[in-house]
Amino acid sequence: MTDSGTTKVQLGDGGPEVGVQGLGCMGMSWAYGPSDAKEARATLERALELGVTLYDTAEGYGAGENEKFLSPFIKAHRDEVVIATKYGLTTPASDRTKRIIRNDPAYIRQAVEGSLKRLDVDVIDLYYMHRRDVNVPIEESVGTMAELVREGKVKHLGLSEVTAGELRAAQAVHPIAAVQSEWSLFSRDIEAHVVPAVRELGVALVPYSPLGRGFLTGSFANADKDLSEDDVRRTQPRFTGDNAAANAALLDPIRSVAEAHGASLGQIALAWVQQQATVHDFTVVPIPGTTKRTRVEENTAATRIVLTEDELALLEPIASKVAGDRYPDMSFASAGRE
Ligand SMILES: NC(=O)c1ccc[n+]([C@@H]2O[C@H](COP(=O)([O-])OP(=O)(O)OC[C@H]3O[C@@H](n4cnc5c(N)ncnc54)[C@H](OP(=O)(O)O)[C@@H]3O)[C@@H](O)[C@H]2O)c1
Repeated sequence: MTDSGTTKVQLGDGGPEVGVQGLGCMGMSWAYGPSDAKEARATLERALELGVTLYDTAEGYGAGENEKFLSPFIKAHRDEVVIATKYGLTTPASDRTKRIIRNDPAYIRQAVEGSLKRLDVDVIDLYYMHRRDVNVPIEESVGTMAELVREGKVKHLGLSEVTAGELRAAQAVHPIAAVQSEWSLFSRDIEAHVVPAVRELGVALVPYSPLGRGFLTGSFANADKDLSEDDVRRTQPRFTGDNAAANAALLDPIRSVAEAHGASLGQIALAWVQQQATVHDFTVVPIPGTTKRTRVEENTAATRIVLTEDELALLEPIASKVAGDRYPDMSFASAGRE
């Protein structure tokens, strides 16, 4: 049994110690429609009270707005929190459906200065490559990230949605504390290559979208009907049309496990991700995203749920039945390049 308030784990060899569940902050400024800034600020504080110390953002979340939003909270609690941000994936204001991926050294140097300024901190605790630009050798990008560590701008390095091979090449240049990739009851593609490599290299896994971007909680059933015009989930194939209807039916086994525990669907989804630490014998720190205090309370309470072997077996087939990819173009994810 774990408790986010008392259990701390280390991200990688020599990496930061963090509460066993982190907080994804993206939705506070971007991606999932409007959010209430006052409630979001209170959610950051409540999370800290509950033992959450890893706060996840990126330069690309709302063109820097999310980093700016977090700044007062980070400054008020500088010694208690680990701030993770990312470079290399941005959206031009002129076209919100477009993504720009850049990993070249000149860009990384420009990006880190932007993040330090918006967060208004002297050093970034964990700095991730957000997406891999296949036109730049990963050794070159990680070499520049390592220089940032030596210069005291960044403490630890991470990579998001990298393949096992990319991780190995990066780790040969500088220790990597964490790999951040999508991992949930609906998205298990990383188990083929990334999970074994992460485990072998002693890197921590930070699962993003552990609630399947909210779908696993049952809070929406069809992105086109239930979500606002500017919600990015409307562009993700598994949440629209016939796929969404087929995928909603896959929640039934989660529902029955939830009933047995007197828990919510989301709590079972989070407990499953958390329990992968035991299943694979490595460090796992999920970063569920929420903008609401009651939900951060619910989500952190999931760290106390332990699923039985029978329950794990009941949940096992779900991912293989999911209709539709997690991105419109899967080269955007590690599985599309493995
Ligand atoms: N590296 C990457 O490429 C990448 C990609 C995506 C996300 N991320 C990071 O990972 C974090 C988490 O992922 P995510 O936000 O995409 O997905 P998620 O954590 O799977 O789900 C977030 C969604 O679930 C809702 N939610 C949260 N707790 C809930 C609860 N207890 N009951 C019902 N609904 C609940 C949230 O809405 P409310 O706010 O209304 O609660 C939000 O819409 C992000 O914030 C971001 O920091 C990284």
